[in-house]
Amino acid sequence: MRLQLATWPEVEAYLVHNRAVILPIGSTEQHGPTGLIGTDALCAEAVAWGVGERLGVLVAPTLPVGMAQHHMAFPGSMTLKPSTLIALLNDCLLSLARHGFEAVMVINGHGGNTASIQAAFSETHMALEAKPGLRCRLVNWWEAPEVGRLSEELYGAAVGSHATPPEVALTWALHPDRQDRRVLEPAVAPSGGFHGAADFRARYPDGRIGSNPALATPEAGRRLLDAAVDEIAAMATAFFASESSVP
Ligand code: NI
Repeated sequence: MRLQLATWPEVEAYLVHNRAVILPIGSTEQHGPTGLIGTDALCAEAVAWGVGERLGVLVAPTLPVGMAQHHMAFPGSMTLKPSTLIALLNDCLLSLARHGFEAVMVINGHGGNTASIQAAFSETHMALEAKPGLRCRLVNWWEAPEVGRLSEELYGAAVGSHATPPEVALTWALHPDRQDRRVLEPAVAPSGGFHGAADFRARYPDGRIGSNPALATPEAGRRLLDAAVDEIAAMATAFFASESSVP
């Protein structure tokens, strides 16, 4: 069930027997010259919807903008400051807790969000310490072990760390009309670190880091999505069973 397609009496009835909720979060940022700007939000949302459907767990609206300050030298990228993202998440989590939700799994699509998500969990746990509370867990979909194994099998060292073929493939499975499989130069982008947005663009002029997204296919994207849903549904089942007080 998706929260945005539910009515309040339906949510009230849900809470009688289930106190779990899934919250997808992405980013709105460049993903190289061939990847979609919404990649991280689209991937997190697809995985979250799959897990929610599998388990019958409510899925909150996807938070579409994250912490992407290092991508701001590329047109179309949007970012929240880390402090804004922490505040946004804390408010969303406290809203859910107020209604009686007891366990939230945040399914994340963007590595740049992880520090702020963990900081928000800390603030939320502190705010709720004397009350029934809300247990929070972060899952980065691309780090699920089976997803990592499949990514390695499909793409080896060409996975890289930004505009990766697994995430690009997943978006092309969802939106096959947006495929762009042209070979880029160099085919595998350089790897390394960066300092801020201008430095990022100077080091990685087309926006990719270490990846070859031309290897992505919708068929592989479907396999990766299925693997992510299978694995994260199992993780969510264990997490929710251990954290909810409702039998
Ligand atoms: Ni991404």
